[in-house]
Amino acid sequence: MLDLKSIIAKAISKATNMNEKELEEFIEIPKDTSMGDYAFPCFRLAKELKKAPPAIANDIKEKLEIEEKYIKKVEIVGGYLNFYINNNILVEEVLKEFEVKKENYGTSKIGEGKNIVIDYSSPNIAKPFHIGHLRSTVIGGALYNIYKYLGYNVTGINHLGDYGTQFGKLIEGYKRWGEEYNIEENPIDELTKIYIRINELCKQDEKVLEECRNNFKKLEDGDSYCTEIWTRFRNLSLKEFQKVYDLLGSKFDSWNGEAFYSDKMTEVVEKLEETGKLVESEGARIINLGEDIAPCIIGKTNGSTTYATRDLAAILYRARNYNFDKALYVTSYEQVLHFKQVFEVAKLLDLNEKYINGLEHVPFGMVRLKERKNVNKGRKHYKIRRLTK
Ligand code: ARG
Repeated sequence: MLDLKSIIAKAISKATNMNEKELEEFIEIPKDTSMGDYAFPCFRLAKELKKAPPAIANDIKEKLEIEEKYIKKVEIVGGYLNFYINNNILVEEVLKEFEVKKENYGTSKIGEGKNIVIDYSSPNIAKPFHIGHLRSTVIGGALYNIYKYLGYNVTGINHLGDYGTQFGKLIEGYKRWGEEYNIEENPIDELTKIYIRINELCKQDEKVLEECRNNFKKLEDGDSYCTEIWTRFRNLSLKEFQKVYDLLGSKFDSWNGEAFYSDKMTEVVEKLEETGKLVESEGARIINLGEDIAPCIIGKTNGSTTYATRDLAAILYRARNYNFDKALYVTSYEQVLHFKQVFEVAKLLDLNEKYINGLEHVPFGMVRLKERKNVNKGRKHYKIRRLTK
């Protein structure tokens, strides 16, 4: 490989009859690039040569033989000799290396033996794949490739939003009006319509809401009818999402979504109970996190679990199964508080320090389109899947 520092040292050594290795150690990289790419401080030789540094610089420069293809200019500034690299040689060098290494250009082994898990994309079943998910997919995918190139053992996880009380509602809506909607043809639009409709009804009728909660409870308990509908919605949604992934060439090593953790949350709750920090507040079970962060809700008033509890169970699972050195979460900055809370509570799970230190949220900004203020939010979804039709 081209080593310009040693080329310079060799030339100075020839001009002064001094030891090349020793001279090479004196060579500096100027802080200010206008002073050149390398600098040789001649005062280092003043004692031995019994001369003033500027005079030494002059002597060396006169005797210096260095090919212009490497160094285009040498200047004396004070007691320094400043060397300016000929950029063409660098370009040539990069292209040569590229020619040899091809797609392996830029790879390294710094990540060897280290595990990284990247949680990205992670859209929600029966809801539109919005622009925030698109960004997460692309940014997470880029991080995946970069870490892989650096030699890390990378696991890409699509932490699907396939669980939670909203599924109780969807099941209820489907039971009531499933026939009216063409779910197979247009799953996400139709399921969203059902969801909006049942939500309205819940607001008017407490009994319907109760039914929805029951459905979710049944789903949690493995009821076959509820599980069957849920599986169908999940599969239909995945088929839609896959169209986007095909366009982008996105791949995941794991599709373990929130539902995967349904039987893994008891351990989290037990561990938190042991710390004595899990307290009741207005019927819910929470962990207080001090003045600056809102408390983390672990269990809802009706006893069902939360998004945060599922993320805590996922941390335990990923620590054990992937032994991660780093666990990245790629979402929009809307979830900054969520991950702050989860990472704080994770400290109570009796995990090795290594895992706690490896947790990292990678937030990205929101996209603002002219006609819609905040396209990540609510129903104002920018329908990415239109691209796929
Ligand atoms: N499903 C979530 C959403 O759409 C993103 C999940 C991010 N990952 C996680 N482990 N919480 O907002």
